[in-house]
Amino acid sequence: MNRLLLTGGRPLDGTVHVSGAKNAALPIMCAALLSAKPLLLGNVPRLMDVATMSKLLAQMGVLVERGDESGMSLCAESIGDPIAPYELVRTMRASILVLGALVARCGRAKVSLPGGCAIGQRPVDQHLKGLVAMGARVSVEHGYIHAETERLKGARIVMDLVTVTGTENLMMAATLAEGTTVLENAAREPEVVDLAICLAAMGARIDGAGTDRIRIDGVARLGGASHAVMPDRIETGTYLAAAAAAGGRIKLTGAAPDSLDATLGKLREAGARIDCAGDTITLEMEGRPKAVDIRTAPYPGFATDMQAQFMALDTVAIGTSVITESIFENRFMHALELQRLGADISIQGNTAVVRGVDRLQGAAVMATDLRASAGLVIAGLVAEGETVIDRIYHLDRGYEALEKKLTALGAKVRRLA
Ligand code: UD1
Repeated sequence: MNRLLLTGGRPLDGTVHVSGAKNAALPIMCAALLSAKPLLLGNVPRLMDVATMSKLLAQMGVLVERGDESGMSLCAESIGDPIAPYELVRTMRASILVLGALVARCGRAKVSLPGGCAIGQRPVDQHLKGLVAMGARVSVEHGYIHAETERLKGARIVMDLVTVTGTENLMMAATLAEGTTVLENAAREPEVVDLAICLAAMGARIDGAGTDRIRIDGVARLGGASHAVMPDRIETGTYLAAAAAAGGRIKLTGAAPDSLDATLGKLREAGARIDCAGDTITLEMEGRPKAVDIRTAPYPGFATDMQAQFMALDTVAIGTSVITESIFENRFMHALELQRLGADISIQGNTAVVRGVDRLQGAAVMATDLRASAGLVIAGLVAEGETVIDRIYHLDRGYEALEKKLTALGAKVRRLA
């Protein structure tokens, strides 16, 4: 099992290019299921989750080809079996994103229930409720969601809570439905907007993506399109938080600063000097960060996917911070590992109180989920001496070329077999 060895305690200095967004690439790959014509994608990151999604789509008969660089073409001329098996869904919850497109295109789908995961229960009731409202017959048998219908019908769907993949699933389903669908209380995440842009290029009629009310007028069929996946705002935020915690000066190119308001605001509050020019973000940090309070919320609030990285930053900050996790019920597992490095954190329900300490000390720690691992990497960059992070397959799911990029920023990092 791969481990990452970090020798910390030194500032970062260098430039890296931001990759395409995992959370935009995955739903956009699923959009290929909606059309018999090819979808040509650019800026697709090379990640484990992207490989898993390719495998899942290929198994249904989609022709998936990777270019030399970040290109990918997908063609779902015909779909053999609209089935997403447990073996693949359990390794990646985002597999649920095939459901809406499959029902819309094939009139039926069988998708394994994702089940629980390390960060909480994560049910899919809102996805199912929306499909039922659009006329699908949905049942859950032997751990599988079965959905079928002649043709989906447009409906007004009020989501009980804000769900990102739920919004994306129903938006995709609605593109081929008969009539108009309105999604109320929709997720406003930039990745939802990126998917809508790609769907529109394929011929879909979508209005209001990026607001909490999305209107989709169904069409009979969608065509092919080319689309470049948006930059990864979580990867961007992770490197920025790393430099704010470890100190130094870094430059990120190919970024989308507009998608990072909440993160950049908190980094400035922590004392970082940040300049944005076009798609470039420069961050400079001298001395220890100031403690910043965090409350996670749906976009444009502070992203839950950035919470662990900011907890790592707060462990070495001047002052005490309060971190409240309001999206997932069990997303503080990194706190215990951070304590192994000398952090002072106490947890009460969904709130963590972090008392900043002068320094962390390297130790062996265990990655528990993707973003928790990113928090441990930041702590390892700050900690004096050697930190070994076990189970880094979590990081490979979501960070392209992690060691290469950290090395380009001047970090001392090595993968151990
Ligand atoms: C997506 C992101 C993930 C991010 C999360 C929140 C992808 C592939 N993943 O996950 O990185 O952490 O958004 O920003 O884009 N919920 C229900 N019923 C549902 C659906 C969700 O109760 O039918 C709950 C969840 O348990 C959670 C909250 O709603 O408490 C938000 O979850 P959701 O936005 O759906 O997360 P994902 O789309 O799975």
